[in-house]
Amino acid sequence: MRGARCRNRNNNRPGEVKPNGTSVVEVRSLAFSRPTGSVRREIFTDFDCDINAGEFVCLVGPSGCGKSTLVGLLSGALMPAKGIINFPNGKPRLGVQFQADALFPWRHIWSNLGYALEIRGHGKEARRAHAARLCELVELDPITFLDRYPGELSGGECRRVSLAMAISANPDLLLIDEATGNLDWLTRRNMQQMLQKLCAERKLTVLAVTHDVEEAVWLSDRILVMQHGGDTKEFIIDLARPRDEATRKNPAFIEKVAQVAAHLSATQQREARP
Ligand SMILES: Nc1ncnc2c1ncn2[C@@H]1O[C@H](COP(=O)(O)OP(=O)(O)OP(=O)(O)O)[C@@H](O)[C@H]1O
Ligand SMILES: [Mg+2]
Repeated sequence: MRGARCRNRNNNRPGEVKPNGTSVVEVRSLAFSRPTGSVRREIFTDFDCDINAGEFVCLVGPSGCGKSTLVGLLSGALMPAKGIINFPNGKPRLGVQFQADALFPWRHIWSNLGYALEIRGHGKEARRAHAARLCELVELDPITFLDRYPGELSGGECRRVSLAMAISANPDLLLIDEATGNLDWLTRRNMQQMLQKLCAERKLTVLAVTHDVEEAVWLSDRILVMQHGGDTKEFIIDLARPRDEATRKNPAFIEKVAQVAAHLSATQQREARP
């Protein structure tokens, strides 16, 4: 593990954490609530979390526990009621893939993917070339897709364009929310490989939300299992990198998947009790 720590309102600070990196994000005493009818539901009441430079963190947890809300808060799309989100080394360049695809529906795919360059003043040729490279990265044939509109894509194709959009501005910190949702088995595996390679090459820091425990273990340095109310348990994934298909057969990998799945399952069963 490259170092990180996480605390929740019950202060169950994990003992095995050994910070040895530079914090990219520090979340302190975060509180956030949502309206549910006439009352507000607390999503976070006193949530702390650090993410260190170069770390790949996956966030898993039951539906509705607040994973996308955390992505919204970290991205600045949502404002916390209390607490701070600090970027100790200055605000990183952010790439965000929200759970719901956020593409410009009136723009072609090339124009969506070229947007980050457009606002920096690059011409059409450079933007199209950039968009074509991004398409290839997420396994979409540029010839087929560049001149389509988002409304002309399947759900899985849209997810991949959204992921490419998040990567398009060459971010330092990537926040991705169910990036591999809607993808077939092989494409999902290929996207996992692509993410691992991209992170290693660009020294990206990543927070990725996923419901797939095996994917989380394969990708992560650390997994946060969140439950309703924001309590979080941390799992350190210290498997060697780069990881490949053989990693999935490694007994240590299988054991980690079982540990995280068991904790997740226990959490959900506890929460389901009346
Ligand atoms: N815009 C909104 N207005 C009111 N409540 C909301 C809104 N968006 C989400 N919620 C509620 O906030 C809670 C947390 O939602 P969030 O989307 O963060 O969950 P999640 O962990 O990402 O779930 P999933 O795994 O299903 O994506 C849920 O109870 C949800 O119903
Ligand atoms: Mg969500």
